[in-house]
Order: sequence, then structure tokens, then C-alpha cells
Amino acid sequence: MQAIDQTAPVRVRVPAKVNLALCVGDLDQDGYHPLGTVFHALGIYDEVVASPAPDGHTSLTISGEGADELPTDERNLAWRAARLLAGRHGDPAMGVALHLKKQIPVAGGMAGGSADAAGALLACSVLWDLDTTPDDLHSLAAELGSDVPFGLLGGTAIGRGRGDQLVPMITRGTYHWVLAMAHEGLGTPGVFRRFDELQARPGARPSSTDIPSGVTAALACGDVRALGAALCNDLQEAALDLRPELRETLQAGLDAGALGALVSGSGPTCAFLAANEAAAMDLRAALGQAPTVRATRRTTGPVPGASLIG
Ligand code: C5P
Repeated sequence: MQAIDQTAPVRVRVPAKVNLALCVGDLDQDGYHPLGTVFHALGIYDEVVASPAPDGHTSLTISGEGADELPTDERNLAWRAARLLAGRHGDPAMGVALHLKKQIPVAGGMAGGSADAAGALLACSVLWDLDTTPDDLHSLAAELGSDVPFGLLGGTAIGRGRGDQLVPMITRGTYHWVLAMAHEGLGTPGVFRRFDELQARPGARPSSTDIPSGVTAALACGDVRALGAALCNDLQEAALDLRPELRETLQAGLDAGALGALVSGSGPTCAFLAANEAAAMDLRAALGQAPTVRATRRTTGPVPGASLIG
């Protein structure tokens, strides 16, 4: 067996996610909402580079999308992931120099911060040559945040509980997506709070964590049109209430031929499903003209979760 070079940096890439279905129950006593969701990993990646730090310290630098908006200390989830891993499975004195190369939008509803934490867990585990199992990393990931375990897993998966209880799904097909980034981010807690306020109104539809069978059936047979029609997100109304201009973004994509359109997670990024690659190119060009859109990306899913890269 080849020995691990413990002086070389370890590089990991972790995908963004979109929730193809996001069904939200009533707020629990613990301050969280139970979820029934279908996670889908998209080919937009953050890269986490973990380099040895001989002095036993932790440091963090960030480049790329939204880098100046993010903290580079223990407030960053990637930093906390490294410290949690060292404390539980290594030695608290283990040091690391972390670098994040970001492509996933910050505060965009695509689990960018969670991806960085998942990447830090895997990269540090390799750098420090720890005997961690996938289950060990999953448990730490669930402690760090609801979306972190899916960053490790990738693919397409049902999520229950807070989103951390995952069951991988066997699906058919590769799907073509266009993402429309908004001018300003949205905080997840605020969107859940607005969801609670909207649910408290008389006549609101009762909350449910039941995932509509249309989404899972479409994925099982690779029917892109049926999937487009079945996409659903219970947080969408709350995100639209906070950012009414997102309605224009969604409509612009539908007018340009998207088979389905939805706010990604807690938003404000909007995700559009296209019939094929050519349709996705046309859709991207049209969305790029919308005044409510800051930037667009074209991508495909599903893709694998956190992976070591050379
Ligand atoms: O788990 P995470 O730290 O990503 O969640 C951020 C916030 O989003 C939580 O503090 C909570 O306010 C809200 N949240 C929720 N129900 C979930 C997941 C997150 O209310 N299932």
C-alpha cells in the first residue's frame, strides 16, 4: 500500500444541492422543522484544500464567489468542522490550514456553507490520517448542520428529520439545470420564520412532510417533463414574500421554455429544469437578460458527493 504524503495538501470538491421536493412540517420544540425532502446534487462545486499546519493552529482563507462576505474564523462552518473532527477523532492539537475555493453562491439556498463543512470533514480526515468511517463523518456532519450530511453523500436522496436522515435514491437520467442567482442573499432562519408566519394565517394549508409521489415516480423512470411539473418547495411562498422580485425571475424562466421552476431551498437562487442541453443553453441566455438576475449557471445533476481530487 502507498504511504500517505502528510506534507501534501488534500483537495476535496463538494457539490451544491437543490431540493426537488421540500415538504416542511410544523416547528418542533427544538426550534427546527421536520422535513421530507428530495436532495439532488448539482455539478457546481466548492473546493476545500487542507494543508498541514505544523504549529498546530487552524487558519482559513477563502477565494471565489462571495469570498468577502464570509468569516474566516470559528464562525465559519468549515472551521468548526475541522475542530469538531480533531476533538472527536484526532487530537485537539492537530492543526490545519484550510482554503475554500468557492463557486456555490453564498446565502443562496444551495448549501454552500454546508458543502464547505462536508469538504473540511473529509479533507482533514485524510490529512490527519484518521480512522474515521463514513458513519463517523455522517454523525459529525449532522451535528454541524441539516444539509451537511447530504454534501458528503451526493447523488439524489430522500432526507427526513432535519434533512440529515438520508436514504439514497436510484434514479434514471441526467437532468439539465439553469440556476439564476439573485442580487442579494437570504438567511435560512428568516425564511423558516416567515414560513411559520404564513402557516399561522387562517385558511393556510396544513403542514405536511409527505413527499409527493410525482417527484419520486418521475425520477424512477427518468421522465424530465413529469419531474418539471412535480417540483415543489414549501419554503417558496415565504421566500417570495420576502423577495417579491423572485416571481419575475421564475416567470422569465417559464416563458423561456423551462419545464419546471422553483426557488432552491430557502432561496433566493432559482432553479430551472430544461428538456436537454440545447434547451438549457437557450434558457440560460434568456435568464441572463432578466433584471432580477445577478448571474446564471448551467449545470447537470445528479453528481457524486464530497470527493478527493488530485
Ligand atoms: O441546520 P442549519 O444550521 O443549517 O439550520 C439553520 C437554521 O434554519 C436553523 O437554526 C433553523 O432556524 C432553520 N431550520 C429549521 N428546520 C430545519 C432546518 C433548518 O427551522 N429542518
